[in-house]
Amino acid sequence: KELVFGVLVGSLRKASLNRKVAENMQEHAPDGVRIEMLPSIGDIPIYDEDLEAEGLPEPVERLAAAIRAVDGLVIVTPEYNYSVPGPLKNAIDWMTQTKPQPLAGKPTAIATASPSPYGGIRCQHHLRQVLVALNAETVVRPEVHIATADEKFDDRGRLTDERAREFLGKLLASLADHARRLG
Ligand code: FNR
Repeated sequence: KELVFGVLVGSLRKASLNRKVAENMQEHAPDGVRIEMLPSIGDIPIYDEDLEAEGLPEPVERLAAAIRAVDGLVIVTPEYNYSVPGPLKNAIDWMTQTKPQPLAGKPTAIATASPSPYGGIRCQHHLRQVLVALNAETVVRPEVHIATADEKFDDRGRLTDERAREFLGKLLASLADHARRLG
């Protein structure tokens, strides 16, 4: 059976390096895996329990439904101040308030990209911990953190770095194994 993986991008900006990574994913996906972009987290309001009491905002419902519909989730995100960017954490917090909670038992993989030499690895560890709270089935290895990412794309947005390409392929293969094992 074909697997569909949804990619959630943790940056809102148009020229996002992480968005570029997301756009390169299909090329590195194993046979039988289709990559789909999930709705942007940019139109999700800042979480407020009073707002929630009025009903779940439409962008929240839309993202939750999109995550429920895929066989696996790939989160590609920058690191802000050594941690998870606020907009991404906000989207995740909203997800916990939807039913059925879409990340529960969801095969999930994390990748980060940054112009820094560390590639966003510190965000990964925080994000992993947050995903434990949601009971996501997060793939442990490989840890894909693309360092000096501003130097790793050509003019057309193609990821040129061989090691990064190889690791993305391994991550998606690992997520596919995980998803098939979990059924
Ligand atoms: C950053 N950046 C950053 N990079 C990093 O590797 N570690 C960090 O802790 C931070 N902290 C941080 C905080 C804030 C508020 C901003 C705006 C930026 C730099 C960040 O990696 C860089 O801007 C990336 O290009 C952002 O990802 P996108 O938008 O290109 O996907």
